[in-house]
This record gives sequence, C-alpha cells and structure tokens, in this order.
Amino acid sequence: MDWLTRLAWILNLVVLLVSARDYDFGVDVISLTRRQDPNAPIVVGRLPSASNGSTPLRLEIRNVKADKYRWDLYILALSMFQAVSQDDPLSYYQVAGEQSVPAQAARTFCGQEDDFVSQQELHKLAGAIADMFSNATERSLYKQAASDFRIPYWDWASPAPEGQSHFPDVFWNSTMIQYGPNGVQVIRNPLYSYSFHPLDGDALIWPPLRSWNETKRAPNTEISQVEPPSMNDQVSAALLARLPEIQQRLYILFSSYHEFDSFSNKNYASLQNLSHLDSIEAVHDVIHIYGGSRGHMTYVPLSSFDPLFFLHHAMTDRLISMWQLLNPSAWMTPQISGETTYTALKGTMQNSSTPLTPFMSSADGTFWDSDMSRTTEVFGYAYGDTSYLPGHSESPRNKLIRKINRWLGQNSPAMVRIKSQAQQRRPSGVWKGSAGVKGSQPSLKVDASDVADDHYTEWIANVHVNHGALDGSFSIYLFAGKPPDDVGTWAFAPNLMGSVGIFTMSGMGGHQSKMSGTVPLTMALMRLADLGAIRDIEANSVVAFLQSRLHFRVASIDNKEVDPSLVAGLFIGISSTRVKLPKSESEFPEWGQPMLRSVLWE
Ligand SMILES: *[C@@H]1O[C@H](CO)[C@@H](O)[C@H](O)[C@H]1NC(C)=O
Ligand SMILES: *[C@@H]1O[C@H](CO)[C@@H](O)[C@H](O)[C@H]1NC(C)=O
Ligand SMILES: *[C@@H]1O[C@H](CO)[C@@H](O)[C@H](O)[C@H]1NC(C)=O
Ligand SMILES: *[C@@H]1O[C@H](CO)[C@@H](O)[C@H](O)[C@H]1NC(C)=O
Ligand SMILES: *[C@@H]1O[C@H](CO)[C@@H](O)[C@H](O)[C@H]1NC(C)=O
Ligand SMILES: *[C@@H]1O[C@H](CO)[C@@H](O)[C@H](O)[C@H]1NC(C)=O
Repeated sequence: MDWLTRLAWILNLVVLLVSARDYDFGVDVISLTRRQDPNAPIVVGRLPSASNGSTPLRLEIRNVKADKYRWDLYILALSMFQAVSQDDPLSYYQVAGEQSVPAQAARTFCGQEDDFVSQQELHKLAGAIADMFSNATERSLYKQAASDFRIPYWDWASPAPEGQSHFPDVFWNSTMIQYGPNGVQVIRNPLYSYSFHPLDGDALIWPPLRSWNETKRAPNTEISQVEPPSMNDQVSAALLARLPEIQQRLYILFSSYHEFDSFSNKNYASLQNLSHLDSIEAVHDVIHIYGGSRGHMTYVPLSSFDPLFFLHHAMTDRLISMWQLLNPSAWMTPQISGETTYTALKGTMQNSSTPLTPFMSSADGTFWDSDMSRTTEVFGYAYGDTSYLPGHSESPRNKLIRKINRWLGQNSPAMVRIKSQAQQRRPSGVWKGSAGVKGSQPSLKVDASDVADDHYTEWIANVHVNHGALDGSFSIYLFAGKPPDDVGTWAFAPNLMGSVGIFTMSGMGGHQSKMSGTVPLTMALMRLADLGAIRDIEANSVVAFLQSRLHFRVASIDNKEVDPSLVAGLFIGISSTRVKLPKSESEFPEWGQPMLRSVLWE
C-alpha cells in the first residue's frame, strides 16, 4: 500500500467510525417498525414457550456473547429498536421514558415492567431480523435463536471470569463490527449508549446532560463539556470496589429478610419504624449511582435511557425471583404509597390488586396487577437459578441455598465455620477470603471468640434519610479513622468500611417520607481484628472502637463533600445482631433481633 492509499484508507475508516450508525438492514426500519394502528392499546403478553414446551431462560450477558446466533440477534435487534422513530409509543425512547414506579408492585418497582416491554419488542424484532437472512441454513439457525430469545442480565454481584473486566467489555466500545442479514458493518454499539434522535433537551432537564446527544457513563467533562466520552473503565473500577458490600448486603437479605414489603422496597422499613432497613431496591440503587458515575444512570428519570438499565433491572428481577423461591408464601400487604409515581399520588392506599398502569394485560383495557405478575413464568421467561433443570435431583430451593452460601456468604463468619470444618486442618478458622475481589482482600481470621457457642455478632450501620434530601443522588461513606482529603478517592479508600448510595431526586415523594439502606460492617471489623486493631468483633471491643474511630462523610454525585446537617432527615445508627451459625451449607444462619448500639448522627 502506498502512503496515499494508506491515508485514504485511514481517512475512510475515521469517517466510518465517527459517523457509525445503527445497523443498516437495507430496509426502511421506520416503516417496518411503525405500527399499523398507532392508537391500538399496547398489550404486555406472555412470550411463547420453547419448541419443547419449556420456558426459555434469561441468560447472563457473557453467556449470550458466547453464542454467535443469540448474540448477533441481540445486538441487531437492539440496534433496530434504538433506531425506531422516537414519536412511536413502542420506540426504545418511549419505552425507556415510561417512568412508572408504583412503590409496591412486585416486578414493577423502578421499571421491571419497562424491562419486559423492551424484551417483548426485542423478541418481535429478533424474529423479523432472523427472517431477513437469505441463506436458508443460516436463516433457520437464527430463527431457532429468535424463538427462545430473552433479554440478558448482567450479574453485577459476581466477580468477572478470570482475565475479564468486572463491567463487561461489550459495553465499552462506542463502535463495533457486526454481521447481519445485510453483511458485515461497522455500527454504533447499542450497548455503549443510546443516541437521541432528535435530542429534546427540555425533556432531559439537567444540565449539562440535557445537551448531550447520547447517554454517558462516567462522562469525562475534563476532555469535553460538549460531548464528553464515557469512561467505562472508571465505571468498572467503581462497581468492582462495591462488590464485597453488595455481596454482603444480598447475603443478609437472602438469609434474614422474610417479609416481602421490607425486602422489596426502601420506603417500607422506615415508614413502619422497623429495624431491618435494607431492601433489594436499596442494593439496586448502588448500580445506578456508580454505573452512571454522574452520567444518565445516576439520574432517576434519565436512567432508563442507558442500555445498561435493562440489563441491570433484569439482574434485579433475577434476585427477586431467587428470594421468592426461598420465601414462597411471602407477599405484599396493603400499604400507603411512599412515593408519587406516574399514576399514583403519594399517600394513596395500594395493594396487590392495584392496577399497574400503564401496562395492559389485554386489549380490553385490563391492567396487570401484582397478583397477576407474581412469577416470571406468566411473562414466559425464567432464570436457571430458580428453575428445575433436567438432570438435577436436588430441589431448586436447596440448590439455591447452597449456591447463595458459596457465592454471597464467602466472607460471612457464618460460612467461615462451615469452611473451616470442611478443611479440618484449620481449627482457628483461618480462611483465605477469595470472595468478591480476587487477590485484593487480606485473608480473614475468625477468632474462636467470634463464633463462640455457635453464635457470633453481625454489625450493620443503618441509614435513613428523607426522599429528595439533596438535589439528586448522593453517597454516605463510613471510614475506620480519618477519611482521605480528596473526595474523589473516598469510594476507593483503604480505610473505607462501607458505603450506602442514595438514589433519589428532589421532589420525589415530598419531604416527609423516608428511604433507607444499610452498610454491613462485619467483614471490615473482622479485617480490623485480623490486623490487631480490635480484639474481637464482640460488643465491648467494637462499640469502643466505633465511638473513637468511626467517621462518616456525605458526598454529592459530583464528588463534593456535603455538610450532613444539610441532609434532611439523616439518621445513621449502628446495630448488632446475634446470629446462629448454620449446621451445613444447605442452611442459612439464623438472625436474632437487632439491637441499636450507637448513634452516629440524627
Ligand atoms: C428445551 O430446549 C432448550 C433449548 O431451546 C433446552 O435448553 C432445554 O434444556 C430443553 N428442556 C427440556 C426439558 O428438555
Ligand atoms: C449458508 O450458511 C452456511 C452456514 O453459515 C454456510 O456453511 C454455507 O456455505 C452458506 N451457503 C451459501 C450458499 O452461502
Ligand atoms: C473494542 O475495540 C478494540 C479496538 O478496536 C478491539 O480490539 C476489541 O476487541 C473491542 N472489544 C469488544 C468487546 O468488542
Ligand atoms: C448532536 O446531534 C445533532 C443532530 O442530531 C447534530 O447537529 C450535532 O452536531 C450533534 N452534536 C455533537 C456534539 O455531536
Ligand atoms: C413510627 O415512629 C414515629 C415517630 O416516633 C411515629 O409518629 C409513627 O406513628 C410510627 N409509625 C408506626 C407505623 O408505628
Ligand atoms: C385493594 O385496593 C382496591 C382499591 O384499589 C380495593 O377495591 C380492594 O378491596 C383492595 N383489596 C384488598 C384485598 O385489600
């Protein structure tokens, strides 16, 4: 190649990359996707079963990537979905914009239903795309993949496979090379961002986000204020740093929360003055805060435009399914809505038969309600963790408990005992904590006194705060000793004991209603005991330590320190709970009543 040809080739490539668009199917996507009757009601139905009669599974994104036909269809369908005209009620733009957040709905808090509507649309598009392949062999392979197509989830509660980034690399590149019915093309990666067409800045409200043409994660405004690039490496590092806390919080939710109301949402516990203050919703908030890192995911009403939203909510839905398998009879009780939503005012009574507007179950105008959406099977999908799989004799429930103990309980004293019994040669309970972040955690040593009489003590910081206490989301960090000076480093500080992310916005639910979350401290305390900073994790040692050494700080989403006296309704208290060890890996630990030990702020 001479230099001129080479230059032309490079310029060509640059033009191609800069102007990369959605996949060009060689057909008019706008008219292909436009509905015949634009006024026909949008009905959310059940996706068809697989040809052998089983309910198809939602898979982890990396497993979808590993299957060429599924992956191609997913990317092509998402690319086509994002290209649908924004004035169409079934466009990505409008489905994502459907911010209906009834506080009580089982699969509906924060957009589980939006997730399903997007799955239904993608399933339809995947079928249409499979039909476009002209080669009959290929067409039949794609049609097979399209028939049991279900949206993937991203498992943000597990470490990535060896050698891979925590936040999967498929989200990172702005462009990608994609095969499809119209050949190989360089396209805009539909997992990197949603590109507004057109951009309606008034609808997006917040500067500077309202002027950006596409959704961003960790936008680097130092490079450009106009169209800052997303720093997905920062998102990955931030979420990886939160993984141990996320695992502990989920372990506590699975092993000790048995009421649907308190498990499901972050409003109920403080409304009822309960001592169990965490919820699956509060854990899900962490992914919004750090997945956005000042980008769209961090802003409640903008979050669902980021393609990550749908994979995040599918994961949240998977966790709800697991909890439901463990607590099959638990269900919601009638209660007063703690937040104002699209269709219900704060303060109105809602129950499991309250219509989940705007999601219709049939064209006659019947809406879905929570009782109707109690299982994923009614929508035609399932998860491998909660299904009977061929070739397994153990009940799915038992299998799930063992899985959760190994996966989320690895750093809990509860599982350390089981581990040390299994290893026998380690009577002192020394156990290499391989959990969560590989190699980055010191080994944990559980002193004999930590697990005396088959009981030990768990420590949790409970936080509650008014809805919309600040203008936007914020985080509360707890440190052993003095926090670093630079707010930007708090989330990664070596002496950070834990944090809680508050995903909210001003005006959400008014100023009386509260939301809550927790910071598990036991793992950090065990590490301090291991280092000799405290004697053990029992009350005498811990309370003295907390009173003299525990510090907390509040940071706004743009990494500014916030005076806690400006955070309306803030309460931070430390409680302890006696926990009875399980006898085997197929049991959970048994939690006693929490006792308030120390109040950091009220
Ligand atoms: C049904 O087919 C799917 C593949 O489409 C397969 O994964 C599943 O194991 C099959 N189920 C049964 C019960 O054979
Ligand atoms: C059709 O696709 C199959 C599978 O990819 C391939 O092996 C075959 O060569 C293709 N046939 C033609 C005529 O291109
Ligand atoms: C991202 O782009 C780089 C450079 O073009 C490429 O090497 C890499 O394979 C891409 N990653 C993915 C997940 O497509
Ligand atoms: C944003 O998109 C509009 C058209 O939709 C275009 O005119 C404008 O130049 C774009 N801005 C940037 C910074 O890419
Ligand atoms: C919770 O406590 C507050 C203040 O102490 C009280 O006003 C309220 O009635 C209590 N709520 C319930 C459900 O007990
Ligand atoms: C649920 O609320 C509706 C009003 O939205 C009411 O008509 C119905 O009786 C309630 N059902 C139960 C079981 O409380």
